[in-house]
Amino acid sequence: MAILKGKVAVVTGSTSGIGLAYARAFAGAGANIVLNGIGAPADVEKTRTAIEDDFGVKAIYSPANMAEPVEIAHMISFAERTFGSVDVLVNNAGIQHVHVWTPLVEKQIPNTMKARNMDRDQVINDVLLAAQPTKEFVTAEQVASLALFLCSHDAAQITGANLSIDGGWTAA
Ligand SMILES: NC(=O)c1ccc[n+]([C@@H]2O[C@H](COP(=O)([O-])OP(=O)(O)OC[C@H]3O[C@@H](n4cnc5c(N)ncnc54)[C@H](O)[C@@H]3O)[C@@H](O)[C@H]2O)c1
Repeated sequence: MAILKGKVAVVTGSTSGIGLAYARAFAGAGANIVLNGIGAPADVEKTRTAIEDDFGVKAIYSPANMAEPVEIAHMISFAERTFGSVDVLVNNAGIQHVHVWTPLVEKQIPNTMKARNMDRDQVINDVLLAAQPTKEFVTAEQVASLALFLCSHDAAQITGANLSIDGGWTAA
């Protein structure tokens, strides 16, 4: 359903990961997209054209560094000049500092298997997701689906709320 048809979504940090999932979810709902983030020009261009080809919307790219206010202002001006307005902004860009050489989440599985002499299922169930009742990793697409819902009229009265997607981790 094209609930964002004709709208414009700026997603910071959307050249990969969760940000890219937001961008593709919004494009799938009809929004024109402003991609942002760091990446090799050829890879970013592939990502940008894939959005246009897959969803029939327009996607532009800004390399603005989110640590530089002037560059952020330029990105928003670029969006407004190109599309006339900005309707949705997702502040997603970021990096996560983890312990030296310790990768994030699923990438920890092989090393943890070796270090603890466990199989893959044991590492997932008893280590990484030990505190999470569903025992399944949250996907970027699931996070993006919630964001898309929050952009809809049905979610108009959800404002200032802190919503968890954590497989029951905090409730357990
Ligand atoms: N993946 C996880 O398990 C997880 C968990 C909790 C929170 N997060 C947070 O979610 C966000 C996205 O994570 P991800 O896993 O998709 O990471 P990712 O590394 O795949 O994506 C991060 C994006 O931000 C961009 N970026 C980084 N610094 C930037 C800057 N200064 N200016 C503009 N763009 C910049 C990168 O180019 C990339 O597009 C991050 O803020 C991360 O800390 C991730």
